[in-house]
Amino acid sequence: MKGIILAGGKGTRLEPLTLPTNKHLLPVYDQPMIYYPIKTLVSAGIKDILVVTGDIHAGQFMYVLKNGKEFGINHLEYAYQVGGSKGIADALKYAEDFSDGEPIAVILGDNTTDADIAPAVAGFKDGATIFLKKVIDPERFGNPRFDPADPQKITGIIEKPKKAVSPYAVTGLYIYDATVFAKIKTLKPSHRGELEVTDINNAYLAEGKLHWSELKGYWSDAGTFQSLFRSNRYWARKKLGEQYD
Ligand code: DAU
Repeated sequence: MKGIILAGGKGTRLEPLTLPTNKHLLPVYDQPMIYYPIKTLVSAGIKDILVVTGDIHAGQFMYVLKNGKEFGINHLEYAYQVGGSKGIADALKYAEDFSDGEPIAVILGDNTTDADIAPAVAGFKDGATIFLKKVIDPERFGNPRFDPADPQKITGIIEKPKKAVSPYAVTGLYIYDATVFAKIKTLKPSHRGELEVTDINNAYLAEGKLHWSELKGYWSDAGTFQSLFRSNRYWARKKLGEQYD
């Protein structure tokens, strides 16, 4: 399976940190943020990777990642998302040629996790697989609603609801079959002017092809000061062990 890291957008919620560089090159403890999603993919055996980025700092990715060999990547490509923060689904559309009709593992460039997605990658058949995580602030994310009669069954995903309908976040890791690109072409911009990944997932749900599993281990995004700080603290603690103070 090939992997896609979405590292576009403007990172406006992290200004002024994102004035001199791209959000995904900011430090998470001792490494640029994007190293973490790379490791998640490579650890799952995914070694053909496309990084989709954009905006004025896009060129810095090549200087940092080069050809990807030091991360164990066989083949690293870059794509440029035109037009700024047009949405996660908009960024993903640039992966159509790269994916070449095969399933893809997609990860948002600001998500860090120590969960192992290898079993989900190996077991993927068709449709979509999303990964859920219990969080204290589910209204900040894609938030799944479950059937009261069947707590395993998702009946809808709401993007950043005013009031959460479950304690789960839809994390920024997704496995999609090749129909994802046809689905993206049907999407309309949301009220925030973006093509939403939640609309992709709801399109799979409408076809009865949305599968989910709970992500084991640590997971956080890092797109706000608080979540960036939380990620830094977690990875510093994990790497330093008893030396952390
Ligand atoms: O982190 C998980 C959440 O990510 C999900 O629960 C939400 O359903 C999903 O919409 C997304 O929410 P955010 O509002 O936090 O997404 P954000 O705009 O911060 O974008 C997350 C990453 O996606 C960003 O680090 C890079 C990539 N992206 C985003 C946009 C808007 C792009 O590559 N291009 C874009 O235009």
